[in-house]
Amino acid sequence: MSTGLITGAAGGIGSACARALAGSAEVIVLTGRRGEALERIAAKVDGRAAVVAADITTGEGRDAVLAAIEGSLSWVVLASGVPARKPLTELGEDEVTETLAANLLGPTLLLRRLLQLSWQPPAAVVAIGSISATRSLPGRSVYASSKAGIEHLARTLAAEVAASGIRVNVVAPGVIDTPFLGEATAALAEWVDARVPLARAGTPEEVAELVRYLILEAPPYLTGARIAVDGGAETVG
Ligand SMILES: NC(=O)c1ccc[n+]([C@@H]2O[C@H](COP(=O)([O-])OP(=O)(O)OC[C@H]3O[C@@H](n4cnc5c(N)ncnc54)[C@H](OP(=O)(O)O)[C@@H]3O)[C@@H](O)[C@H]2O)c1
Repeated sequence: MSTGLITGAAGGIGSACARALAGSAEVIVLTGRRGEALERIAAKVDGRAAVVAADITTGEGRDAVLAAIEGSLSWVVLASGVPARKPLTELGEDEVTETLAANLLGPTLLLRRLLQLSWQPPAAVVAIGSISATRSLPGRSVYASSKAGIEHLARTLAAEVAASGIRVNVVAPGVIDTPFLGEATAALAEWVDARVPLARAGTPEEVAELVRYLILEAPPYLTGARIAVDGGAETVG
């Protein structure tokens, strides 16, 4: 039995990954906090999907995710996350803690346990980072730090687990049209016009296509890579 796992599977990018990777493992575990939203995604995914409503920032949540894995792990996509669009001094301590827990600490503690399980080919992890990780945008300090952290964790893990045959890569989206944009949509549209060479937001499907490639089609020699899917935004600073 082989299992694929997607965190944030009810989200824009996570649900697109669920559709793109459908059928590539005998069971695909879809996890996030909202069970009903996950059930709706599961109903549209070809093949067997198991829903686990869990908060990966808690030990119980991570236990529930681990309990759903059947046989060996085939691949993992870390696509959960929360935004924090305020300067550090305007964020409450709880908001800072929640952002770092959801985007860095929770995924780190989950990965720590997943990497102790047995894996089978393609044995691939993709962590969803962000182009925020490489730039200093005012109002994004905590979010950007959490994304820089998860990206560097993933790239360092690539070396740490290489001998186990597990590949770990990072996909760094730019502005992607998902619920994540929330109330910032208008401000981000201006940013896209000014800073994105392709002059539009990306779609979750365009991110999922790259995730699928990295897991199922990329050369076995490709690990520790970070690929931005951002309409060229990183190239223009
Ligand atoms: N959209 C963009 O422009 C963009 C750009 C760069 C990077 N990203 C990154 O891409 C990833 C996916 O984002 P998205 O655009 O698909 O956003 P989204 O639609 O808001 O999805 C994020 C998902 O993460 C889940 N989540 C949040 N905290 C969680 C927790 N503690 N435990 C379990 N699940 C949790 C949420 O599900 P529940 O509410 O059900 O828990 C939500 O469905 C995120 O890591 C984000 O940082 C997005």
